[in-house]
This record gives sequence, C-alpha cells and structure tokens, in this order.
Amino acid sequence: MRIPKSLAALGHVFLSLSTASTAQQQPLLDPSNEASSTSQWRFNFSSEAPHYFASVHGLLQQWSNTFFPNGHSIVPCEIAPFTKLYHGRMDGDVPPSPECGMAYGIMGGSRNSHMLTYQTTRRVKCIYFDGESATLFGSGQLDSQNLQIWGNISGPARPGNGFRGLYDEYARAAGLCDWFREQNLGGPGWGYEGIVRMNAGFEMIWCNFSSPSIRLISHLNITAPLLPEGGTNVMVTEQDNVSSASYCPLPLSERDTNVVVKGQEDVYPTSYYPLPPSPTRSDKATDPSDPPRPPVGGKPEWLREPFFPSQAWSWYMSATQHYGSNGDGPGRGETHVKPISCGFLTYYSPEFLSQAIPRAKEEQKSLNLTKEGLWAGPGEVGIRGKTLQALTRRRRLHDLQDITPSDAATMRQNSEKVLRDLLSDSPANCSGIEWTAMTNDIVQTYGSSLFNFLHALEKFENITVTNKTLLRGWMVDVRDQTHAFLLPFLEYPDEDASEDVWVRDSSLFKATYSRCRFQYTRLLDPEEGVSLGPEELLLKWAIEETTGGICSALVDIGLAVEGIWESNFNIPVNNTSESQMSTKLKSEVSRWTSGIEELMAWLGWAGEWVRCEERCAWDESCFIPMWPLIPFPRRRDGGGGGPGRGPPNNRPGYGGPPYGRPGYGRPYPYADFPSPPNNGSTGRRPSRGFNPWQSNEDDLWSPRCVKSDYILKGREA
Ligand SMILES: *[C@@H]1O[C@H](CO)[C@@H](O)[C@H](O)[C@H]1NC(C)=O
Ligand SMILES: *[C@@H]1O[C@H](CO)[C@@H](O)[C@H](O)[C@H]1NC(C)=O
Ligand SMILES: *[C@@H]1O[C@H](CO)[C@@H](O)[C@H](O)[C@H]1NC(C)=O
Ligand SMILES: *[C@@H]1O[C@H](CO)[C@@H](O)[C@H](O)[C@H]1NC(C)=O
Ligand SMILES: *[C@@H]1O[C@H](CO)[C@@H](O)[C@H](O)[C@H]1NC(C)=O
Ligand SMILES: *[C@@H]1O[C@H](CO)[C@@H](O)[C@H](O)[C@H]1NC(C)=O
Ligand SMILES: *[C@@H]1O[C@H](CO)[C@@H](O)[C@H](O)[C@H]1NC(C)=O
Ligand SMILES: *[C@@H]1O[C@H](CO)[C@@H](O)[C@H](O)[C@H]1NC(C)=O
Ligand SMILES: *[C@@H]1O[C@H](CO)[C@@H](O)[C@H](O)[C@H]1NC(C)=O
Ligand SMILES: *[C@@H]1O[C@H](CO)[C@@H](O)[C@H](O)[C@H]1NC(C)=O
Ligand SMILES: *[C@@H]1O[C@H](CO)[C@@H](O)[C@H](O)[C@H]1NC(C)=O
Ligand SMILES: *[C@@H]1O[C@H](CO)[C@@H](O)[C@H](O)[C@H]1NC(C)=O
Repeated sequence: MRIPKSLAALGHVFLSLSTASTAQQQPLLDPSNEASSTSQWRFNFSSEAPHYFASVHGLLQQWSNTFFPNGHSIVPCEIAPFTKLYHGRMDGDVPPSPECGMAYGIMGGSRNSHMLTYQTTRRVKCIYFDGESATLFGSGQLDSQNLQIWGNISGPARPGNGFRGLYDEYARAAGLCDWFREQNLGGPGWGYEGIVRMNAGFEMIWCNFSSPSIRLISHLNITAPLLPEGGTNVMVTEQDNVSSASYCPLPLSERDTNVVVKGQEDVYPTSYYPLPPSPTRSDKATDPSDPPRPPVGGKPEWLREPFFPSQAWSWYMSATQHYGSNGDGPGRGETHVKPISCGFLTYYSPEFLSQAIPRAKEEQKSLNLTKEGLWAGPGEVGIRGKTLQALTRRRRLHDLQDITPSDAATMRQNSEKVLRDLLSDSPANCSGIEWTAMTNDIVQTYGSSLFNFLHALEKFENITVTNKTLLRGWMVDVRDQTHAFLLPFLEYPDEDASEDVWVRDSSLFKATYSRCRFQYTRLLDPEEGVSLGPEELLLKWAIEETTGGICSALVDIGLAVEGIWESNFNIPVNNTSESQMSTKLKSEVSRWTSGIEELMAWLGWAGEWVRCEERCAWDESCFIPMWPLIPFPRRRDGGGGGPGRGPPNNRPGYGGPPYGRPGYGRPYPYADFPSPPNNGSTGRRPSRGFNPWQSNEDDLWSPRCVKSDYILKGREA
C-alpha cells in the first residue's frame, strides 16, 4: 500500500497499450506530471470519450435520453417485418407524406379522433436521432436534425425568424425524407423510409404512406360518446376507476389485438376482419396553418370528454415501458427498433472540433478544469459534493450550437457513406459486433456496483478504528467488493512477493490493468486479423477509454486494498500497531473515496444513479418529467394553483394556451406546446434549460412515485 510514486508511468501505460491508430486519440491521463494542484486521479474531463460511450449506451432508452436530451448521434436502424405502427388524427383522412407518429395523447379525446394502425410488411430501414429529438420546446434537442438538413441549427430564415416549433416539424420531416430520396438512399418500398425520434416515448416519421413496406390494417373513428350534459370529468378523483379502454400506445409500441382463445371458436370469430382499402393519398405534407396540439382545457366540450383525464397517464405509462437502464437496474428500451451500431455516428467524435473546443473552454471555467481537462478541485471546502455533481451531469448541458456548416457537411457526408454501405447485403465496414450490447454490459457491470462501493467506502467515517471487530468487518466488505471487480483480471502473486507488488507502477498492476482495460477489445487488433472501419474504430476507442478510466481507479484501489489486507488484517488480530495502521488507512480510504467519486463524475452516467428511493405501490409509477408530460406544481390552497405557474407568457416566441380554471390546477396536463411566432424573437432559444419556468430540476433528479392523477393535477407545491 503506497501512494503511487509516479503517475507518469501510468500515462505511459495508457499510451503504449492503446492501439493508437488514429491521430485524434487522446490519452485519458496526462503523461506529464505537472499541474500538481489537480487531483491525483487525473481524469480528463475534456475528453469526448465518456460522452461518446454514454451516447452509445443510451440508444433507444427513454430514461437516459430524458436526462441527456440534446442528442449528438445519428444511428442507422431497422424495424422488423410485421411491426405495428400507430397514427392518430383529428380527421377521417389517411395521412399525407411524410407524417409523424401522432399519439392518441395528442389526437385522442376530441370529437373527431381517428386511429390508424399499420404494420410493416418487410424489414424496414430507418435512421434514429438520439436525445429527446421530438421535443419542440427547450434548447438543443433538434440541433442534430437541423444540422443534418440545413447545415445550421436554425434552418432557413423566415418571417419573424422566431422559434416555430411544430410549424417546422413538416419542413424537418420533408427535409430528411427528401435527403433520402435525393441521395438515392431510400424511397417507397426500399432503403431508408423513416426517422425514429423520442419525446415521451418513441415515434417515427414515415416518409411515404404509399410505400408497400407498410400496410394499413385498421382505420377507426375512435371518437367516444360524451358524458351527459352537465357531467364533468375534471373532478374525477378516483382515476383508477377510469376505464383502461383508453389505453392506447404510442406509434411504435406493441399491443395484442384479436386474441382468439382456443376451444372457444363458437364464441369468438375465427375469420380475419376485412382490411381497409390501401390508401391512395399521395399529396405532400406541408406546414399546417394550425398545427395539431394537445387538447386545450377550459372548453365546455372538453369537460365532457370521458377519457381526457386518463389520456396523459396512458401516454406516460407507455413511455415508461421503454425506460431502459436506470437506478433500478437494467430495463428494456424501445426494442422494436434495432440500432445498427457499426454505423454509429456522433458529434462526440473527436473530429468535430468546432464544438469540442468551445465546450472544453466553457467547461474549464464552469467546472474548474485545467487546460488539459483535469479537475482542479472544488476550491472552497464543503462544496466538493456540489462540484462533483455538476461534473457528473455535465453532458446534460451539451448542445451543438457551435458546430460549423463545414462540420455539419462532414457529418452529412459521413452519414451518406455509412448509410449507403449498409444498403449493401455485405457492408464493407460492419464487423457484426454488437456495440450497444457491449456498452450496456459495461454499464451493468460497473454502474450500480461503483455506486455501492462508494457507499461502502463512505461508511468508514463512522467506524471507530480502535474497535477491531468493526474495522475488520468493514475491511472485509470493501475487500469483497474490490475482489469482485478484479476477479477476472488478477492473478495473486507468490506469497513471498514484496509489498511493492501492490503499488500502481508494479508489473502486477500493469498486467492486471491491461487485462481489465482491454477485456472487451483484446481481439480487435489488426494483428489478430481484425480490421475495423472508421466508425467502429471510434467505438473501440470510446470503449477502451471508458474501461481504461474504470480500470485505472479500480485496479489501483483493488491492489491497495490487498496490500493493506495482507500487512494488517491477514495476521493474528491482536498483533498490529493500531496507531500506525489507522493513520495509513485513513489517508488511503480518503484517496480511494475521491478516486471513485471522480471516476463516477468522469463517466457521467448520472441517470444510472437516480431512482425512486421508495418502492412504488402497485398503482404508482416512478415519474420523471418527459416533454410534453410535465405537470406544474399546484398550490395547496387550491386557488388557481397550476395555472398561475404556467410558463411565463412573456417569453418571446412561446406564447401558450390559455390557462386558468380556478380550483383545478392547470387545465390540461401537457407542458407548453410552442405557439406560432407572434413577434420577432431572436431565433435561437433564449436560454439554456429544458423547463425554463421551473426553478429547479428536483422532479428529474429526485423522482418520486406518483399515481395516475399526477400528470393532470400536478403535485402540491
Ligand atoms: C484531454 O482531452 C482533450 C480533448 O481530447 C485534449 O485536448 C487534452 O490534451 C487531453 N488532456 C490530457 C491531459 O491528455
Ligand atoms: C367520427 O365519429 C364522431 C362521433 O360519432 C362523429 O361526430 C364524426 O363525424 C365521425 N367522423 C367522421 C370523419 O366520420
Ligand atoms: C441556416 O441555413 C439555411 C439553409 O441553408 C439558411 O437559409 C440560413 O440563412 C442559415 N441560417 C443562419 C443563421 O446561418
Ligand atoms: C372506484 O370507485 C369506487 C366507487 O366510487 C370506490 O369505492 C373505489 O375505491 C374506487 N376504486 C379505486 C381502485 O380507487
Ligand atoms: C410517395 O410514393 C408514391 C408512389 O411511389 C409517389 O407517387 C409519391 O409522389 C410519393 N410521395 C411523396 C410525398 O414523396
Ligand atoms: C478551482 O480550483 C482551484 C484550485 O483548487 C481553487 O483555488 C479555485 O477556488 C477553484 N475555483 C472554483 C470556482 O471552484
Ligand atoms: C454516520 O453516522 C451519522 C450519524 O449516525 C449518519 O448521519 C451518517 O449518515 C453516517 N454516515 C454514513 C456514511 O453512513
Ligand atoms: C465494536 O463494535 C461492535 C459492533 O458495533 C460492538 O458490538 C462492540 O461492542 C464494539 N466493541 C468495542 C470494544 O467497543
Ligand atoms: C471502410 O473502411 C475503410 C478503412 O477505414 C475506408 O477506407 C472505406 O472508405 C470504408 N468504406 C465505406 C464504404 O465506408
Ligand atoms: C491476543 O491477545 C490476548 C490477550 O490480550 C491473548 O490471550 C491471545 O493469546 C492473543 N492472541 C494471539 C493470536 O496472539
Ligand atoms: C507480532 O508483530 C511483531 C512485529 O511486527 C512480530 O515480530 C511478531 O512475530 C508478531 N507476533 C505474532 C504472534 O504474529
Ligand atoms: C414585438 O416586439 C417589439 C420589441 O420587443 C415590441 O415593441 C412590439 O410591441 C411587439 N409586438 C407585438 C405585437 O407584441
């Protein structure tokens, strides 16, 4: 057990063992030993690698993309044959092309609500924009799409030049679909035919509804009979009694229909129902003069819509089905869409310097990093926790505001090359490695166990070191955990090996570290006959940097624990020099603790360490705000409440629906849908942040179990 003598040696390990095959690769740790004011752990917080990694891991998972809503990545994807797609409308027509998946949550609950169900007839190719990429309010969620279409984040100038929200949705949809067609990447019945995005749930822009790749399988007028005159749904307090018939999943979710029970043929129909005619509508979608938005409350007819109150909850519940990995462990993401990870493209790639350089500069200031990206520490005592938290969550504030048109053009060229390659039956640069699964494995292995290990280390503060039973119990717990981390990589040295084997620059350290860091990628070496294309080389880089960071801390701490164990605990209990050991141990434990804290901050897997602390009851669910399902706090006195707390109506360009029905909180459960520009605002979002009218993000970072009336009624402030 010893403080490492030379971190320089470590920097060397990183450099020499990594297959430094591209010039952009940056060492994780600084090989020089300057900047002595920085933490000894020397994680490079300016490296794009952990963000690159986390983006791959988060693909198609609601939870992760809600915590980190500004997508940076563009991913080719596929949808299996016979996958169902839903489309809600407020008229009896079939959709024009292209069209977005409109949820029942928006289109339902009106006097003219219609539901169209389609099924794919073949394997369909798509592209997926990660983040909350179908969110029309806030800052940065649409950047990657706009860059792809227009080369800048604002798109074409237009009268007023304001934020136009849904008005631009059709321009965006058409822009992407036209791009497929113009580049000969897809069209009706072949190639790329849709664009997958997310807000509260996943949806798809379908480029052409005349395509033989999908077939309409039902087209229903789902308008429900109104409640009797004078009846009202708003006072419904027993939401649980609301019929589940209103459950209607989002476009890409799956739901069984037509269940035929064996042996009951005389009761249930055994013949197929007739298919509706194949639609012939072929006009092109245009920006509507009055785009659809969720039902607005306060109207008398709305009060009599029977399913209005449960509609938002149903929408929300369908989104929770794709939460994916979170503080409660692994979970299912949107599995109907399969990402083709060998074609993963992201603005976190080190080649996009137009964003990386200003971002690094800004974070140096806001997060107290050195020019090389090392953490200079919190400065004042007592704020370490807060600063670490800001480091851990830093990706949430990333956007693509500084990407230049030429970088956007590079991304577009790269994507065309990749998409075209994947059209071929045997793509040139697709090894078949499941990169998403690999990153998920790594997060599952280390995500919650790092969190648990940190808590075990923190318990030391309450151990009376003179109580040997207590101390030994704590040490056994810590050693059990480090042993589990190192188990696949560590070969114990001979018993008579010197104490020096347990230090950082020992040959034991180097061998163990190398096995740990390259545990996933050892064979992806040109010498083993594997050659990867540019996208997969970057994936390999991001994984090796990430496991490199993890192993750098865990092998160091694990070996130090073994050293302390061997010299202080693996001997007769009452033969240690207590005072000597407790001083050593105290400084070591504090070193280990900061190592794990800084590692977790560097990884930035913030969503993996958030969950509802209480276990939710059967009729509850762990809620995080997902646009547009963002309830507003209501006041306890019941007077006005929610309405008064709506978004500031004076925000340029945002306007908003009418608020205010005394006593009921906000009259409709959805967060602000952007209004058409009514005055010349300045184009780009006014400020950073996702729910600018909310003073903090506690609802996101400390989620709670809620019941089904929560979205409609909000929470008591
Ligand atoms: C950290 O990463 C950034 C960006 O890749 C790089 O410019 C910098 O040199 C790296 N710092 C160290 C200490 O390697
Ligand atoms: C759908 O049903 C509602 C209620 O029965 C009716 O008022 C409406 O006209 C119907 N819409 C169409 C397009 O048939
Ligand atoms: C963004 O790109 C569009 C289309 O290329 C162009 O019309 C517009 O002027 C650009 N906006 C800015 C702010 O450069
Ligand atoms: C449903 O409503 C009935 C009658 O109002 C009530 O007694 C019951 O508790 C409600 N069920 C639930 C699950 O809340
Ligand atoms: C959709 O495909 C049909 C048939 O190939 C074609 O006639 C039509 O123009 C296409 N519509 C759009 C909007 O591209
Ligand atoms: C940054 O770290 C340095 C060195 O520890 C310290 O002097 C300074 O106060 C810190 N600044 C902030 C804003 O935390
Ligand atoms: C240490 O004990 C105090 C007092 O009982 C408690 O508040 C604190 O949470 C404990 N710390 C840890 C890490 O368990
Ligand atoms: C040591 O701690 C254990 C567990 O808390 C306790 O039962 C025991 O009495 C303590 N021994 C001494 C000598 O304080
Ligand atoms: C495949 O990768 C090689 C090596 O990086 C590259 O030269 C080639 O352009 C790539 N081919 C395609 C179709 O992307
Ligand atoms: C530990 O110390 C006690 C008395 O302090 C003694 O009786 C016992 O034999 C010692 N045990 C060992 C293993 O030395
Ligand atoms: C106790 O420790 C001393 C000094 O470290 C050593 O010489 C002695 O052999 C040890 N006794 C036992 C019983 O292990
Ligand atoms: C538009 O904004 C300008 C400048 O902020 C203001 O003077 C004008 O009154 C606004 N017009 C409307 C219709 O709100």
